[in-house]
Amino acid sequence: MNILIIGAGGREHTLAWKLKQSPKLNKLFVAPGNAGTAGIAANLPIDVNDFEAIKQLVEKESIDMVVVGPEDPLVKGIHDFFLQDASLKHVSVIGPRKMAATLEGSKEYAKKFMMRHNIPTASYKSFTSDNFEEGLLFLESLKPPYVLKADGLAAGKGVLILYDLAEAKNELRDMLISAKFGTASSVVVIEEFLSGIELSCFVLTDGENYKILPMAKDYKRIGEGDTGLNTGGMGAISPVPFVSQEFLEKVHKRIIIPTIKGLHNDELPYKGFIFIGLIKVGDDPFVIEYNVRLGDPETEVVLPRIKNDLVELFDATAHGKLNSIELEVDERTATTVMLVSGGYPEAYEKGMEIIGLKDIEGSIAFHAGTRLNEEKVLTNGGRVMAITSFGRDFREGLSKSYQNIDKIHFDNMYYRKDLGFDL
Ligand code: AMP
Ligand code: GLY
Repeated sequence: MNILIIGAGGREHTLAWKLKQSPKLNKLFVAPGNAGTAGIAANLPIDVNDFEAIKQLVEKESIDMVVVGPEDPLVKGIHDFFLQDASLKHVSVIGPRKMAATLEGSKEYAKKFMMRHNIPTASYKSFTSDNFEEGLLFLESLKPPYVLKADGLAAGKGVLILYDLAEAKNELRDMLISAKFGTASSVVVIEEFLSGIELSCFVLTDGENYKILPMAKDYKRIGEGDTGLNTGGMGAISPVPFVSQEFLEKVHKRIIIPTIKGLHNDELPYKGFIFIGLIKVGDDPFVIEYNVRLGDPETEVVLPRIKNDLVELFDATAHGKLNSIELEVDERTATTVMLVSGGYPEAYEKGMEIIGLKDIEGSIAFHAGTRLNEEKVLTNGGRVMAITSFGRDFREGLSKSYQNIDKIHFDNMYYRKDLGFDL
């Protein structure tokens, strides 16, 4: 089978690494990819949202399956684009259609979906510029902290948590009236603050059948002790030590089953990953958000633990046959530590040479923001590389990752040295 992966991050390098292990794979392409994917697949300099260029590539290279990494092309309807084109509709696309991708593309849509299907989540109200004054009154009726969410995609910056009422009111004005996040904040969801510990749950579904992948926890804040600005993710571990069998059953019964049934009842065909952002409040799971893709860096610990042939899993997903597959999971713990450019998640420089990669032993370096310049590997983004290791527990895994990180260097390299501190 010839497969094209869309995307350029650590998630896509991990997908490529895992697909590459399958005897069913013939040719592998990544668009646009990074220095890591260049070593195991053919990178093609195509933008993830340039559907016409993707179409030409799929036709030229006789691609049988397209695996979509990031949310943007899904929310823009890449799967529908394939279904509507006579010369593309035989190609399997892993990733939901536009309508279902709205679960990530619109917070309000996701909230309504959860309410309709009785899925536990924070209570909420949504506002536009038309009922802005009501929004102010609603804020007054709540206790701090206040959670304000821009409805649309805002590059991970659209959620604000504020402790001061006046500040919350100002932010609501900025979002609704001054279009702080452009059209993404023309609707704002204000919701109840939930206090607990977060974790990521991934489900692969063909629309009818589903497989629950191993749970993971990521570390979102830039600073040690979970302080400072939010990032895309500074590291991850899987499994999550505080997830008991009992908690898992609650997630399954109260969240996963109603989500799959809800998609079905709402006539939202879905072939791909559902990423359920969970928060454990006391002993009960609540949904913080849905994403319609794999998480990054969670992928760098979840996929290495899956023993199945990923081409087989995806083929079964595309053809509605996931029930014919038994998921096999490695018992060991996987951990990953993200190396980032100094300054990230604010301004940072690119183009630093990365050295020491050849000396890594017993860990895997999944590239995120990197590019090749002849023989050299250069930094090309804020999150540069995820160093994944296996261990009997997260401490052993992390210690291997940290030992290997000691051998890697680029100017202004930064990473968190305290992952697992809270467990
Ligand atoms: P989201 O983009 O919806 O995942 O929100 C980003 C982050 O904001 C989440 O990972 C949580 O840490 C936090 N957050 C979102 N909603 C809530 C909530 N209702 N209560 C507490 N924290 C929240
Ligand atoms: N690590 C969180 C995300 O991928 O959205």
